[in-house]
Amino acid sequence: MSSPDWTPDSWRSKPIKHATPYPDQASLKAATAKLGRLPPIVHPREIIDLKAHLRDVAQGNAFLLQGGDCAELFDYCEQNSIESKIKLLLQMSLVLIWGADKRVVRIGRMAGQYAKPRSSPTEIVNGKEVPSFKGDIINGHALEDREVDAGRLVQAYHHSSATHNYIRASLSSGLADLHRPLDWGLGHVKDPTLRAKYSEAVNSMTDMLRFLHTIGANRTDKLDTVDLFTSHEGLVLEYEQALTRLLERPRITPTACSEPDGVELEPAVKEYYDTSAHFLWIGDRTRQIDGAHVEFFRGVANPIGVKIGPTTPVEDLLPLLRTLNPTAEPGKITLITRYGASRVAELLPLHIRAVEGSEFRRCVVWQCDPMHGNTVSTPSGVKTRRFRDIFSELRQTLLVHRQEGSFMGGVHLELTGDAVTECLGGGEALDEDDLSTNYTSYCDPRLNEKQALELAFLVADHYRQERRPLVPQI
Ligand code: PEP
Ligand code: CO
Repeated sequence: MSSPDWTPDSWRSKPIKHATPYPDQASLKAATAKLGRLPPIVHPREIIDLKAHLRDVAQGNAFLLQGGDCAELFDYCEQNSIESKIKLLLQMSLVLIWGADKRVVRIGRMAGQYAKPRSSPTEIVNGKEVPSFKGDIINGHALEDREVDAGRLVQAYHHSSATHNYIRASLSSGLADLHRPLDWGLGHVKDPTLRAKYSEAVNSMTDMLRFLHTIGANRTDKLDTVDLFTSHEGLVLEYEQALTRLLERPRITPTACSEPDGVELEPAVKEYYDTSAHFLWIGDRTRQIDGAHVEFFRGVANPIGVKIGPTTPVEDLLPLLRTLNPTAEPGKITLITRYGASRVAELLPLHIRAVEGSEFRRCVVWQCDPMHGNTVSTPSGVKTRRFRDIFSELRQTLLVHRQEGSFMGGVHLELTGDAVTECLGGGEALDEDDLSTNYTSYCDPRLNEKQALELAFLVADHYRQERRPLVPQI
């Protein structure tokens, strides 16, 4: 329950970073009033379910896979983009289930990832200084659309709800039905050792699914469909506030046998839910303990992520967690770590020791974001990331958690189901000359479908190698 000194607008009295400079207060008021009347996009029941799954992740019993675009455009609200992302997350999760031997919780970084904090308010395009593109919810990428427009808040709602609608419709109609054969397309992997490794994984998963089919165990709803939750960075607080509602906390539905006549149900509890997505995170640039973003998110019942990295002092962690999660509710907070391959081994152990040595032991989800600490520019100024740096941060993170006795609960990736050429390396060995072939990101470089699957194979392989010595030799 939120504390008595919190209200949905108490963030307005706090210092705020990356505030949106709305030029026209009347249209901002009209837009937020409209959002305030529209129905919630997600339901508290789903939010509470996700929090329960994240509690399992925090305790080492499930794995969290979160992925999607850096900057989602309204134009990505289209059948193919949505389906290819769902399919990719599903395939990656199958690989991870096989490798980690744990249930996988899936969260799309989609259906609302429309806002970007930018390091500079302006940029030079064709020799002219123009406002930076801050994501479709704030302004447009086309040069003539760079002014902030509050009407985009309402457009964001409609694109988000249309995307949610299609995700729900396609999942309930069998898009993620594991009875269908999956196309693993490994032909691009040039290195024969890697190709053999990936093929072994695919063969073993195919055998497993065939076996389930043979014994009829696939005829359960678990294999007919899967859950996919949604998330975005909660940057534009005007939007998040307008979609935050005081709603009854869903109760466990009593069954006829579990609730004999005369037993009183617990009184209804009302809580604030940010109904724009199931999971919201606070970015690396807006996580100041006394700032507006932390103030807003401390009051909602959703599970909340916080990005932490080289600029997070160890001594900030406990005050941050105590502010956002004063009752130490397991699964409530996900710490999304992003240090970079060259810093992770030095910094992560210090962060883990501070948290796991406190009342938050086994309470937070430790999730590795191996993307944001590994962004580099090519000599010609193209933003990219090397596949080997991404995997290196991930591997080191896994090893550090093992040494410290904590769990790496999951991964947070920027990826797309399309055949883009934005990150270097991977099985296709993309090099700098390839980047211009299909570079379509409007912000950070994403893993393409093949690179994302390969990363899942490598993580799965890591887990299997780790388990191997523990298997008794007969
Ligand atoms: C992002 O996730 O796109 C992002 C901006 O990350 P960070 O806040 O970690 O820099
Ligand atoms: Co990004």
